[in-house]
Amino acid sequence: MSFKIAVIGGCGHVGLPLAMAFADRGCQVISYDINPVAVDVVNSGTMPFLEPGSGSVMQRIREAGTFSASTNPNVLTECDVLIVVVGTPVDEHLNPDAEAVPNAVAALSPYLRDGQLLVLRSTVYPGVTRLVHRRLVALGHKVDIAFCPERIAEGRAFTELYSLPQIVSGTSESAVARATELFGCLTAEIVETTPEEAELAKLFTNTWRYIKFAAANQLYMIANDYGIDFEKVRHAITFNYPRATDMPGPGFAAGPCLFKDTMQLAAYNNNNFTLGNASMMVNEGLPLYLVSRMEKNFDLSQMTVGILGMAFKSESDDIRSSLSYKLRRILKFKAKEVLCTDEYVVTDSSLVSLTEVLDRSDILMIGAPHPGYRHISPKVPVIDVWNLLGNGTVV
Ligand SMILES: NC(=O)c1ccc[n+]([C@@H]2O[C@H](COP(=O)([O-])OP(=O)(O)OC[C@H]3O[C@@H](n4cnc5c(N)ncnc54)[C@H](O)[C@@H]3O)[C@@H](O)[C@H]2O)c1
Repeated sequence: MSFKIAVIGGCGHVGLPLAMAFADRGCQVISYDINPVAVDVVNSGTMPFLEPGSGSVMQRIREAGTFSASTNPNVLTECDVLIVVVGTPVDEHLNPDAEAVPNAVAALSPYLRDGQLLVLRSTVYPGVTRLVHRRLVALGHKVDIAFCPERIAEGRAFTELYSLPQIVSGTSESAVARATELFGCLTAEIVETTPEEAELAKLFTNTWRYIKFAAANQLYMIANDYGIDFEKVRHAITFNYPRATDMPGPGFAAGPCLFKDTMQLAAYNNNNFTLGNASMMVNEGLPLYLVSRMEKNFDLSQMTVGILGMAFKSESDDIRSSLSYKLRRILKFKAKEVLCTDEYVVTDSSLVSLTEVLDRSDILMIGAPHPGYRHISPKVPVIDVWNLLGNGTVV
């Protein structure tokens, strides 16, 4: 079955790969986005960010003529399916904006047509799907409303869009049936739930990961405070021991999703989420912890510190909510100078080359564990919480 689809927020990190995947499966797809720069970049056949595997897909869908991007909302009326995947960040006081998706949908109201399927795909504050339903009914719209959360990880979109089971929920039976048929274009396995279950499933997924990273980071700090290499302990625990294979290594648990979704869940539960809030303290506290440990052995005020990797994770160009930037802020206050580099990041003109950082730094820190840094042989100490260089994690 082929659909005519508009993805709202369709030039973003998850909207664009989704739109491209549907177009590659023969659907006619328009990425609608309010960012004209991103729309122009996409229409020129270029990705606005790194996503492995995107190049060949982009080439195919351009040749097939199944994909384009637009800032013109009139394109929405012609489509059978509208998929909303706009950003849903928390504010500077960690409050979720429960209106982010309802507001985006309200802006679409003049372009909606009876009989369309509206799929919400952003990670939403629980209750948003029913709220959108109520508001659209009040405006007299007769559309089917589904909530089908996105669960891909950036950098794995073009494998995971086809391999992950899709959670499908809706406010009517026909919404569920239509969304099931839609996502059948991409993936074989569908898990059906109510909207409330699906909203929690997505938040619990990210929160679970965030708590696991926090547990590992706190255990790392305990071992490290006793001068014990956590990676040796973790190896001892996990080696051929199936009940512990999911224990993560220590590192910066950052990026645009895990932290903010844990805060969304805390707000939803009346700010009563001890594990989530504790995880935030541990994960967000790791840069400060590392610097305070360094200060025990080094006079940072006399040193140039180099940070290798500014993206929020390995092999990514995404610096949103990256803890490397928090690390930089702390070090700028404490050190003589801070030099930062990242071969993937193209959006920060303050970054310098890897060679300059290696030549000029008195001490190095691995911010994002990009594989290229494995091969450096620095003559200065390296603070490597990730154990990327294999020399242990003790600071
Ligand atoms: N980034 C991830 O790895 C990931 C994974 C799963 C789910 N999610 C969720 O997906 C959603 C989108 O995240 P993202 O990382 O792609 O965000 P993003 O900021 O990269 O993309 C959002 C896009 O929406 C556009 N936009 C904003 N308001 C709009 C409007 N009213 N109409 C049309 N376009 C609009 C923006 O210009 C941007 O291009 C969030 O809810 C996020 O939690 C993200």
